[in-house]
Amino acid sequence: MKPSVILYKALPDDLRKRLEEHFTVTQVENLSPDTLAQYADAFASAEGLLGSSEKVDAALLKKMPKLRATSTISVGYDNFDVDALNVRKILLMHTPFALTETVADTLMALVLSTARRVVEVAERVKAGEWNKSIGPDWFGVDVHGKTLGIVGMGRIGMALAQRAHFGFNMPVLYNARHHHPEAEERFNARYCELNTLLQEADYVCLILPLTDETHHLIGKSAFKKMKKSAIFINAGRGPVVDEKALIDALQNGAIHAAGLDVFEQEPLPVDSPLLTLPNVVALPHIGSATHETRYNMAATAVDNLIAALEGRVEKNCVNPQVRQ
Ligand code: DGY
Repeated sequence: MKPSVILYKALPDDLRKRLEEHFTVTQVENLSPDTLAQYADAFASAEGLLGSSEKVDAALLKKMPKLRATSTISVGYDNFDVDALNVRKILLMHTPFALTETVADTLMALVLSTARRVVEVAERVKAGEWNKSIGPDWFGVDVHGKTLGIVGMGRIGMALAQRAHFGFNMPVLYNARHHHPEAEERFNARYCELNTLLQEADYVCLILPLTDETHHLIGKSAFKKMKKSAIFINAGRGPVVDEKALIDALQNGAIHAAGLDVFEQEPLPVDSPLLTLPNVVALPHIGSATHETRYNMAATAVDNLIAALEGRVEKNCVNPQVRQ
């Protein structure tokens, strides 16, 4: 008999078929208490779990006594209680290599659109305000040649540094847990303490995972250290930033502008003050959201689950030490 799995995100037809060749699949809309009650038997017998953007915590794991592997269609796994998975020796698989270049494109899009006020001025054109040659009230600021600070020099940070160095001739500063000789050699990137980076960068780009250590890493005192002309970009995880402090910094002119793909609460509440500020570009967490990359992520997640449940994990595993 094929092992049972719960699928909590729709898949393209061919990937769904690939999953069904290996498993008996029950697709559910989400992992809410109502869904758990409705599909109690399927959750109770499932050995695998596949999806994204839902909390997988100890309470859920209790309802899934046979679970052996979870596979998330994302690189980030802050939705998972990894300690609880480890205790039960449940594998957690993710997609660290599928989205690097696409998220780096998103970061560059945020840099360019905030600097050149692309969204704001395009809206003004649509509103019929372009009725004479434009003046300084339409101008932005340069990107090329300015200093880019990257907080978090993982794969995506490296791909951003590559774009900034080769494409825009930008000096690159970075802060990370470790020095990255490759970034220093290939992109002339300079390692510095976080405070130095905040003080010196024209663009402060955050691309960090959410952990206990990174929660609210950037708050009031960090914004105070940045240049008044600084543009702040976040495409990692929202709660790495104290959003209230960010709103104050933008309202008080402590920094110039912000380009944000992630927020403390997602979807961003429609009454968020961020949506009233002309110097904010707010995106709906589109970091990896291209047809090609989302397909590749889903395909990787399907293959990851098959490998995990068939006992041949070689890569993409967050907790390989629990392998039995
Ligand atoms: C991830 O994979 O963690 C990204 O945030 C999705 O865009």
